[in-house]
Amino acid sequence: MSGQEINFDENEFIVSKTDLGGRITYGNALFIKISGYEEVQLIGAPHNILRHSDMPSLIFKLLWETVKRGEEIFAYVVNKTKEGNYYWVFAHVTPSIDSNGKIIGYHSVRRKPTPQAMAVIKPLYAELLKAEKMGGIAASQKYLESVLQQKGGSYEPFILSL
Ligand SMILES: Cc1cc2nc3c(=O)[nH]c(=O)nc-3n(C[C@H](O)[C@H](O)[C@H](O)COP(=O)(O)O)c2cc1C
Repeated sequence: MSGQEINFDENEFIVSKTDLGGRITYGNALFIKISGYEEVQLIGAPHNILRHSDMPSLIFKLLWETVKRGEEIFAYVVNKTKEGNYYWVFAHVTPSIDSNGKIIGYHSVRRKPTPQAMAVIKPLYAELLKAEKMGGIAASQKYLESVLQQKGGSYEPFILSL
């Protein structure tokens, strides 16, 4: 992985909100600081401005499918800063619902991942990415399903067990 890893405290939260299309509508001070961008560059930008090439597309597919259904998702994500450095997070992404039950946007709260979780996620994502490069997202999905099957569960209990 190129660049340097940027760390943050385990009692800090990196928060952002998006509109329905994934454009950033809000970021807390730490989100802005760690990203390396100015707030004006972030607001209105698509959230993939932070996308790191080591992230398997499957994780974002799963993220969007889940939140569009109105459900929450937990996911490990590595993000790229403006300077080309990176930081790992454990994200909890939720839909924001209005009083009529309509989804009006999305919200992500990120914490520092534990070293134990990273020891599982880094090799897993490397395999998912390898599968994706060879056989597309379908191959990556097949790989993830085989891992989940071995662990005897589905995505959420597996992720929450790390
Ligand atoms: C609330 C919310 C937060 C998100 N946070 C991130 C993030 O921190 N990093 C990231 O790469 N993608 C994030 N995404 C996903 C992006 O919208 C996008 O799907 C992803 O970067 C993949 O981009 P691509 O489909 O253009 O490859 C977030 C999406 C939502 C709804």
